[in-house]
Amino acid sequence: MKTAKLCKLISKSEPIPGIFDFTIESPEIAAEARCGQFLHIACGGGTFLRRPISICDAHDSCVRFIFEVKGEGTKALAEHSVGDFIDVMGPLGHGFEVKPEHKNAVIIGGGIGVFPLFLLAKQVKSDVFLGFRSADRVVMEDEFASIAKSVTVGTDDGSYGYKGYIASAMDEYLDKNPYDVIFACGPKPMFKAVKAIAEKRGIECQLSLEQRMGCGIGACLVCTCESTKDGMDKQLRVCKNGPVFDSREVTLND
Ligand SMILES: Cc1cc2nc3c(=O)[nH]c(=O)nc-3n(C[C@H](O)[C@H](O)[C@H](O)COP(=O)(O)OP(=O)(O)OC[C@H]3O[C@@H](n4cnc5c(N)ncnc54)[C@H](O)[C@@H]3O)c2cc1C
Ligand code: FES
Repeated sequence: MKTAKLCKLISKSEPIPGIFDFTIESPEIAAEARCGQFLHIACGGGTFLRRPISICDAHDSCVRFIFEVKGEGTKALAEHSVGDFIDVMGPLGHGFEVKPEHKNAVIIGGGIGVFPLFLLAKQVKSDVFLGFRSADRVVMEDEFASIAKSVTVGTDDGSYGYKGYIASAMDEYLDKNPYDVIFACGPKPMFKAVKAIAEKRGIECQLSLEQRMGCGIGACLVCTCESTKDGMDKQLRVCKNGPVFDSREVTLND
């Protein structure tokens, strides 16, 4: 079982208001981390439960994660200063599976869902689609551009890049280009659209789901989602069986 470690915060920035980019020092987590896995973080500020945050990047002894301030936990986490120690458990969960047959990979992320995709994009040369609400919420475009085959950025309000939902930009791209897998992370409406596109085209699709979590290690069942794998209804634990699932395995209820 994974134990919690106190890790030193070695860099901190706020690339856009309310989004914090942290790097902690942990040779053990950096050595084990796989794309799509997450950290379970004791945020402080009186919060009792840990909060799950994806690993954005890992190399040498550094582990990077980027998060949006949503509520009490992430607000307290954001208040840490460089040099502080953060209580981190991880890496946890089952991440993305890159297979030798994935020659033409497409990566699609929406909002805070773009962060878990960066380590993946470093490992598999891909065409990347990043969707945001508006121009002032665009992050990591240049970093993805430095490692990907191509990057398309879209905004829901049309203020930057492709005008409209990023899943539509990806669908238009798939009309004209070869593909063999889609990797996705983002809000539920984007997932639904991506799952439908993958099923229509008969293409493998791996989705990284977000669910509220308790223990983070498969014991409390707070994080279950429904699955119809092999025609059988069953409950999957996002923290342990996921967070990354084959899109055909999961039922995306509202
Ligand atoms: C596997 C996984 C990876 C994640 N990776 C990232 C990441 O890389 N960057 C990032 O910014 N966020 C990520 N999240 C979401 C992050 O865990 C939540 O935003 C955080 O737990 C909110 O805690 P809080 O105390 O600040 O807010 P709370 O006070 O607990 O909640 C504030 C609001 O956020 C909603 N919320 C809380 N937890 C979740 C959740 N798990 N999913 C969806 N909505 C939630 C609540 O319903 C509420 O509306 C991830 C979640 C999961 C499950
Ligand atoms: S968070 Fe406890 S089982 Fe998943």
